[in-house]
Amino acid sequence: MHAITKILFLCICSLTSVKSQEVTCIRPQDRLLSRWEASWRDETKKLGDTVRYTCISGYRRKDGVTRATCTRDGWEPNPLCEEIPPCGIPPALEDGDTKTAIKEHYSHNETIEYMCQSHYIMEGEPYKTCLYGEWTGHMRCLRPCIVNEDEMRQHNITLKSSGTKYLVHDEIIEFRCTRGLSTGTVAMRQRCNSGVLVLPTCRE
Ligand SMILES: *[C@@H]1O[C@H](CO)[C@@H](O)[C@H](O)[C@H]1NC(C)=O
Ligand SMILES: *[C@@H]1O[C@H](CO)[C@@H](O)[C@H](O)[C@H]1NC(C)=O
Repeated sequence: MHAITKILFLCICSLTSVKSQEVTCIRPQDRLLSRWEASWRDETKKLGDTVRYTCISGYRRKDGVTRATCTRDGWEPNPLCEEIPPCGIPPALEDGDTKTAIKEHYSHNETIEYMCQSHYIMEGEPYKTCLYGEWTGHMRCLRPCIVNEDEMRQHNITLKSSGTKYLVHDEIIEFRCTRGLSTGTVAMRQRCNSGVLVLPTCRE
């Protein structure tokens, strides 16, 4: 009876020792995990098993994996989640500015809105976004045109209707001759193109 107990004991003992050598991985306690797609029923995974997972906002799965793998050293990759690089100060905009005060650091996916100085027209979307440590988004401020009296006099022209001498980009203006007739090489209707306004000429 004593011998049987001894054999039984040895048996159980060797079984448990085999069992303890078997690699298992338990559900990781990681505050950076937002989803761990293993059901609670088979929470413990064996060597080579994989589990789909996602990280909380601002973090991504390390090494570009989509699943974690149970290895002899625990879950791989290690750590499971890494911070997505933030961005520094957003780039300055010529003839414009940001709508809100700028910060020194921006996290992934953060957006900042820009605006142009008055009379300047924005080309492109007014936003830049911090993506993986880089600022994306492109816009520029297009200059207004200023109609110069002296230049008009030299070209023998004046404004067709008394109006503002400041034109925003793409605005149309019409001239008339003060003497003679239009030489016809440049139309009397002109469009302000980012600060450039071509003047027609009149001659007797
Ligand atoms: C970034 O923001 C967009 C919407 O604003 C969202 O759909 C996306 O999941 C976000 N990406 C990350 C990595 O946070
Ligand atoms: C303006 O008109 C005068 C008189 O016709 C002419 O002599 C002069 O050349 C004109 N100016 C230009 C820039 O053509």
